[in-house]
Amino acid sequence: MKIATIVGARPNFIKLAPVSKEIRKRDHKEVIVHTGQHYNYEMDRIFFDQMGIAAPDYHLGIGSGSHGFQTGEMLKKTEEVLQKEVPDAVIVFGDTNSTLAGGLAAAKMHIKCAHIEAGLRSFDKRMPEEINRVLVDHCSDLLLCPTRTAIDNLKREGIVQNVHLTGDVMVDAQKDCERIAESESHILEALGLKPWSYYLATVHRASNTDDPENLRAIALALQDLDDVVFPCHPRAEKYLKKFGLWDDLEKKIRMIKPVGYLDMLLLEKNAKKIVTDSGGVQKEAYLLGIPCITLRDTTEWIETVNDGWNVLVRPGEDIASAIRDFRPRHERQDVFGKGRASAMIVDLVEKLVGSGGS
Ligand code: UD1
Ligand code: UDP
Repeated sequence: MKIATIVGARPNFIKLAPVSKEIRKRDHKEVIVHTGQHYNYEMDRIFFDQMGIAAPDYHLGIGSGSHGFQTGEMLKKTEEVLQKEVPDAVIVFGDTNSTLAGGLAAAKMHIKCAHIEAGLRSFDKRMPEEINRVLVDHCSDLLLCPTRTAIDNLKREGIVQNVHLTGDVMVDAQKDCERIAESESHILEALGLKPWSYYLATVHRASNTDDPENLRAIALALQDLDDVVFPCHPRAEKYLKKFGLWDDLEKKIRMIKPVGYLDMLLLEKNAKKIVTDSGGVQKEAYLLGIPCITLRDTTEWIETVNDGWNVLVRPGEDIASAIRDFRPRHERQDVFGKGRASAMIVDLVEKLVGSGGS
């Protein structure tokens, strides 16, 4: 069986790692298509190097741009690759523009498309990711859901065929890398950090970074805390500088380049709390048992909030107090599966291809 996996942005690479490993273990032919959406070493190559992902077979080199430009260019070039390779199935991951382009290209060419992380909803259409998720779910042939909530969300939209609860591939990724991170990452020593003595922050959502008032509120709150480590996404760096917030922030807290997955796992695991607007980081905080404060109005990972380990805080609220005061209330549950999602996913893709997709 020939499978094309389509990726382009940091969270796509992390989800690809365990799935690619499983595809190759079974001797299927994998064609990795990298759209080029993310391209800085620390947003891109570092994940291939550290997580043992094979070099992309195709690099489309699209880079940054408006949503229409970026998605359109990716769609054109992905179609060319699929025409040449004629895979039996395409796999797309999550909710980025690369996911949408890959899913659309496959659907228009009648190539079976499997969507990993299907059914997630924030119910906020101002998020570009929400548009991407809904569209990809509606044009995919196989819907691979990480949670029961995701299955229920699809049911409400009338999608009930070929919907499966697989658990979350990010649990697989974490399991594969946790021990390696413990032995290979020296990030705590390098930054002079003691376990549970610091807050870990990540911010990159357009609604936070591109809005000067929201970004200012977040920057002021982070400055108000004692010890913050902030691996800074290039989008956040660009706007912190543009709005004149960078210099003060850099004086007060540890602004560092985005880190690789191994360093990130250790930073997360040893943080006293995590402050984020990332989807994946909310989930990882929950898996690691670290209290999470999410700088958003909504989340697609609602189980983490319902379980009391994640709290949503809007930029208009007193963010610093919300961060300081938050205490998880309950035991965590096993909502994301046990780390066997990739094997189940490849089983299901084999079945889909073998059965002609019924
Ligand atoms: C994208 C995804 C988002 C995901 C995030 C993960 C979409 C619509 N958004 O958002 O869902 O959570 O990736 O990190 O697909 N930039 C660089 N170098 C890079 C990458 C980005 O400088 O390697 C800068 C550029 O100025 C670019 C900006 O970051 O314009 C935004 O990049 P883009 O890929 O468009 O969106 P993200 O905010 O990264
Ligand atoms: N991540 C990382 N280094 C960083 C920040 C995040 O390796 O400096 C990882 C993080 O551990 C998680 C993933 O990137 O696995 C989340 O991706 P991101 O926050 O970019 O996107 P989202 O999940 O919000 O789509």
